[in-house]
Amino acid sequence: MIKPVWIKHAAQLATLASDVKGPRTKEAMSNLGLIEDGSLWIENGIIHAVGTTKELENRFSDKLHKAEIVDATNHLVTPGLVDPHTHVVYGGSREHEFEMRLKGATYMDIMNAGGGIHATTKMTREATEDELIEQATRRLDSFLSHGVTTIEGKSGYGMNLETELKQLRVMKKLQEQHMIDIVPTFMGAHAVPPEYKGREDAFVHHLIDDMLPVVAEEKLAEFNDVFCEKGVYTPRQSERILEAGKRLGLIPKIHADEIEPYGGAELAAKIGAISAEHLLKASEAGIKAMAESGTIACLLPATALYLREEAAEGRKMIDHGVAVAISTDCNPGSSPTTSMPLIMNLACISMRLTPAESLTAATYNAACAINRQEQVGSLEVGKQADIVLWNTKSYQELQYLFGVNHVKSVWKKGIKVV
Ligand code: NIG
Ligand code: FE
Repeated sequence: MIKPVWIKHAAQLATLASDVKGPRTKEAMSNLGLIEDGSLWIENGIIHAVGTTKELENRFSDKLHKAEIVDATNHLVTPGLVDPHTHVVYGGSREHEFEMRLKGATYMDIMNAGGGIHATTKMTREATEDELIEQATRRLDSFLSHGVTTIEGKSGYGMNLETELKQLRVMKKLQEQHMIDIVPTFMGAHAVPPEYKGREDAFVHHLIDDMLPVVAEEKLAEFNDVFCEKGVYTPRQSERILEAGKRLGLIPKIHADEIEPYGGAELAAKIGAISAEHLLKASEAGIKAMAESGTIACLLPATALYLREEAAEGRKMIDHGVAVAISTDCNPGSSPTTSMPLIMNLACISMRLTPAESLTAATYNAACAINRQEQVGSLEVGKQADIVLWNTKSYQELQYLFGVNHVKSVWKKGIKVV
């Protein structure tokens, strides 16, 4: 029998609890459900009670002596952060491309010359399952140490059935072995594999006829994602792939309008994608369509910074009524980071989200973007006890003191992991 955990005297307990159901928009993104002198009671990995220290002290007076007590005086406590967009399982690394880009090569130049996603695909095809597990485990440990307790993970460095399945099976094993929760996405359409260069439609057929059914049958993914971008997949091809996935029960996501405006945001709204990712170049019409359809904008400010691009218009999207989530995009090319606190800082600095909106985007809205809002993303009775205790006294200070890891302790399902 594991001891109950009693967290008490949090200077600020940001519960993220709200009556608003589903992804939060506009003013609802600023409501953090704050409790001063806040307290949590955890039993068997689940949040049992949330309130002020006084309230919980009275309610559990006969059990207090049995609990493990955590004194959070002068500390902020939040839900575990959720990262709704990662490419965490891959082989090798690409630090030489970083230097090439600093000398002037563009992301697409490198990819079209066989580097970029193609280089990682080659290294991932060559890696064994054990090697992929070993490398990804280090990244997962780093996520946890930065307060991230749930992530999404995409395949897409295989682009043939064998390696796509290998990546997804590795995620399944990691889910069993590691404390972090991983929600899997199939992204066979991450680029056009070299074997199919100039025969994009043939690959789309192959993906729809031969890959998607196996992924669905083996229940290896919940979502289906496509890189809809000029020179990669057209909106038409993307739509075919995502509609085919939908028929098999896979929920659509889209890498949209990252490099050029290409109708990706509009397509996401049209087909009812749960989220559209990147959106650096999303059009005004696309933003409005997303607000209308309730498609979440999953924004990746570190990717924009790393590619030396202007960040997505996060402020404008929120003002237009789009629900915004944020993510690392953890991948070996455009954003090799596992730091969600840094992403929260950047969301404020480069997209003008307020500190409160940024925290909502990294917790509750992020959970909505991967359909986990019933389990994680807020501190409410009955939810998983995924909790972060920070070395700052407030969420405002957390967003203000940037580029530093302020995590003090992390609980995953009630177990202290950091
Ligand atoms: O989300 N844009 C496409 N895919 C990834 C990058 C993958 C890579 O460069 O390896 C992204 O940025
Ligand atoms: Fe990505």
